[in-house]
Amino acid sequence: MKNRPHVKYRHSFIRSAPCFPPVPTCSQKTGGYYTHVHFIDPSLPIHVPVLPQEILSWLAPRPGMILVDGTLGGGGHTRLLAEKLGNEGYVLAMDRDPAALAAAEKNLAGLPVKIAQSNFCDLAGVLDELNVPAVDGVLLDLGLSSDQLADESRGFSFDACGELDLRFNPDEGEPAWRLLARLEEREIADLIYQFGEERFSRRIARRIVEARAEAPLKSVQEIAALVRRCVPRSPKERIDPATRTFQALRIAVNRELESLELALARIPDRLKPGGRLAIISFHSLDDRLVKEAFRNDLRLEPLTKKPIIASDEETARNPRARSAKLRVAARTGVKSTEY
Ligand SMILES: C[S@@+](CC[C@H](N)C(=O)[O-])C[C@H]1O[C@@H](n2cnc3c(N)ncnc32)[C@H](O)[C@@H]1O
Repeated sequence: MKNRPHVKYRHSFIRSAPCFPPVPTCSQKTGGYYTHVHFIDPSLPIHVPVLPQEILSWLAPRPGMILVDGTLGGGGHTRLLAEKLGNEGYVLAMDRDPAALAAAEKNLAGLPVKIAQSNFCDLAGVLDELNVPAVDGVLLDLGLSSDQLADESRGFSFDACGELDLRFNPDEGEPAWRLLARLEEREIADLIYQFGEERFSRRIARRIVEARAEAPLKSVQEIAALVRRCVPRSPKERIDPATRTFQALRIAVNRELESLELALARIPDRLKPGGRLAIISFHSLDDRLVKEAFRNDLRLEPLTKKPIIASDEETARNPRARSAKLRVAARTGVKSTEY
């Protein structure tokens, strides 16, 4: 992980904000958050932010605040927050993915947003570069964006034509196909079981090792088909049988749980007293880490007893929101040294 993240300075204001908000493209019928928009621009992000009203009400952006969006993605949440901050405040928006940053530079032009390519667990380093001791709130919307899913070259979707990469930052770490080529059968099985909670992990690992002995195993479609052959399709489950294995590989190549654990340990020290930490997770491994940290960390007071989930109305227009769980905590007066 980088110690000194590259910070790009973007601090111009709302004057030149784009006149239309992000909407899904025709091919991605994810349901539109902005239902009043009558035209579609393919250069805009297709990701629709989840729990938008809940994020606004829990982070309560006001003019002059400094907020952090640790997972910029398509910029949907950043935009919602930045629009409320006036000329004095700004959103520091971070992402590991250079493509997300490049798109946001264009799409968020004119809003009070500073963009940094960084892992959110390195927030302290970015804030030090900006000479900001503490912020009013931090949002982490975990996982991957619809834009990453739609980009065939990244291998996040089962239909992608290329190699199984699955890295948020293609310049960091190793692609998933290389992990599958390098690990031993038992290591592959453990990884798929631990990070994907996949019951058929041993069978999948065995088939992977058999297949790679015949020919290099790289292609997304080939690996997805191999996994599907190992996992009996349950009539109760609507997800593709390869979902849990792909999730496990994505978590492994991006070291997602490690990043989240580090972030949970470090971010509270950079929140002002009363400042809020809001985390949206999409699977139980992430949610468990967040729940435990909010419960046990004396620097944090949990504000949500149970996770907040999307309304039926939101899941109808944005199916991605179905598995979203939002937890929010506030910074207490307890210092790191007392803790
Ligand atoms: C669910 S999307 C965020 C969507 C965003 N909230 C929006 O409204 O468009 C998650 C994003 O977080 C990024 N990401 C995942 N883990 C990260 C980490 N540890 N540090 C920084 N960015 C991360 C991914 O690259 C992805 O772009």
